[in-house]
This record gives sequence, structure tokens and C-alpha cells, in this order.
Amino acid sequence: MRALLAIVALLAVTACAQPQKSTQAAYDEAVLPPGALGAEIRYGRELVMETRRLLPHDVGAKMDCAACHIDGGTRPRGGSFIGTYAAFPQWNKRAHRVIALQDRIAECFLYSMNGKPPAYSSREMIAMTAYIAWLSRDEAVLRPSARGQSFKIPLPSGTPDRRAGAALYAQRCSACHGATGAGAGPFPPLWGAGSFNDGAGMAHLDRMTGFVYYNMPKNAPHTLTKQEAYDVAGFVLSHERPGFRKRALVTFPSVPAEYF
Ligand code: HEC
Ligand code: HEC
Repeated sequence: MRALLAIVALLAVTACAQPQKSTQAAYDEAVLPPGALGAEIRYGRELVMETRRLLPHDVGAKMDCAACHIDGGTRPRGGSFIGTYAAFPQWNKRAHRVIALQDRIAECFLYSMNGKPPAYSSREMIAMTAYIAWLSRDEAVLRPSARGQSFKIPLPSGTPDRRAGAALYAQRCSACHGATGAGAGPFPPLWGAGSFNDGAGMAHLDRMTGFVYYNMPKNAPHTLTKQEAYDVAGFVLSHERPGFRKRALVTFPSVPAEYF
């Protein structure tokens, strides 16, 4: 009986000590689950941070997932994955069906990375899913409205002023992303052959405006007005980028499921 009381007391204490929703907390290796699951979550993060190096055959753009999902998707309004797992399965307008998280990851491979998605049952796809699930562990499933992490903003009226955007680009962006938008080293390309293709979310004016408004320039984020972010996004998106080559890219390789 005493042991039982002790257990009840312990349960009560741990219940009270439940952490506040720690959804803002960055990824912390120290608190990963032990064993194989923790190892796969860690691998999933590596894939998000170093996608090109680890999956050279699946990535066409000179980009890692972390080019847009800043700090591996742990930055609010910087392409955060915190809560993402909980928002799936979800209705997808483009596909006109309910999709799973793997489908959404596949979309970013196809458009944002201008590449090919790994097979759904591959170690890589499962590791990335596990990583995003881990970042979402404090969220109630299928309650995406609680997130509020999107970087979309109401756009200024009228069309963007590309000339003003070009001047701003030269001053505030080109030092990192290059005068020709091709990027270099850790700085991802904004247009041209190495960039995301025309089917990507970032190729939409509203998405890029919000992303730039909240996150760029990297050395002084959140210092542009909405109008400036709009103008510079209009300028960036006025350049050529790869077209989405549906036939060439959409093959979902199967892997033999020899574990059954
Ligand atoms: C060029 C920029 C870019 C790159 C690179 C990119 N993404 Fe995305 N991703 C986006 C945008 C934009 C969205 C939509 C965000 C929104 O609408 O709020 C998105 C959305 C997502 C979502 C859905 C998020 C949610 O909460 O609904 C997932 C999952 C995702 N990306 C995974 C990946 C993975 C994995 C990679 C690398 C293989 C990747 N992305 C690379 C731009 C990018
Ligand atoms: C100090 C360097 C630096 C400056 C200046 C800078 N960026 Fe970035 N930018 C980065 C880095 C690094 C990333 C990758 C994400 C990260 O690590 O924050 C990035 C990512 C991006 C992305 C998403 C990935 C892609 O390639 O499409 C866009 C869009 C972007 N920057 C636009 C801009 C614009 C527009 C400006 C000027 C207003 C700007 N950046 C200024 C360093 C910079």
C-alpha cells in the first residue's frame, strides 16, 4: 500500500512537472530517445542539414533543406517543422487528395530541391519523418491551427517595384547570394540553374516575401519593411530558374521490403 501511495505521489509530481509546451526549444541531442530511434532522429536531422552531401543523387539544386528550413526547421517563421508532423495526414490542394508527411517531404524534393524523393520506405525518408515527428512531440495531432508558424504575410498592394528591389538586392543581399544570384559555399542560390524550380513554394511571391521579411538578410533579419521584402522578392523571382520536369523526376523508387 505504501509503495502504491509512493507511486501515486510520484505520478502526481511528474504530472505537475510536465514541461510547458517546449515547442520553441531548439533540437537538443541530449534528450533524444535512447537506442535506434534516437539514432534515426539524429540521422534525419543530418539529412535536413546536409542533404546534398548525404543524398547527392536525390538533390538537383545547390541547396540543403536547411536553406529554407533554417536551423534544421527549428526557427519560428523560418520554415519551422515544430508541429508539422501533427498536421498530417492533411488535404492537399495541388494533389487533390489527403497526403502523408512523406508526400509533403517528397514535394520539397521535387520542387524546392529540384530533385527526386527517396523511396517512402527508405531509411532516409523514415529518418527525416522521425526527425520532424520528434520536433513535433509536444503538439496534439491533427490540430494544425495551433501552430501559427507560417511565414506568410499580407502583401503590400500593387505589384512589387523591381527596380527598388534590384537596388536593395545589391546593398543587402548580393554580398552573400552573389550578384548573379548563384550563391556560393554556405549561401544558397536564389535563381539560376542551381536554385529551386518554378514549382516550389518559394517561387511564389507571397512565400518568398514572408520568408525574406522574417529571416533575411541573414546578418540582420527582420530589418526590411514589408514593402522592401516584397520589392526584393519581386526582383529575385523575375529571374530564370529551372522548370519542373515532371516526367524526368517523378519516379518513386521502391525498395525491397526484405524485413517482412
Ligand atoms: C527553396 C526553399 C525550400 C527548400 C530547399 C526546402 N523546402 Fe520544405 N518548404 C518550403 C516552403 C516555402 C514550404 C511551405 C511553407 C509554408 O507554406 O508555410 C515548405 C514546406 C515543407 C514542409 C511542410 C511544413 C508544414 O508544416 O506544413 C515539409 C515537411 C518540408 N517543407 C520538408 C522539406 C525537406 C525535408 C526538405 C529537404 C529535402 C525541404 N523541405 C527543402 C521551402 C523549401
Ligand atoms: C550574411 C549573408 C546573407 C545575406 C546578406 C542574405 N542572405 Fe539570404 N540566406 C543566407 C543563408 C546562409 C541562407 C540559408 C538559410 C540560413 O542558414 O539562414 C539564406 C537563405 C535565403 C533564402 C532561402 C533559400 C534560397 O536560396 O532560396 C532566400 C529566399 C534568401 N536567403 C533571400 C535573401 C534576400 C532577398 C536577401 C537580401 C534582402 C538575403 N537573402 C540576404 C545568407 C544571407
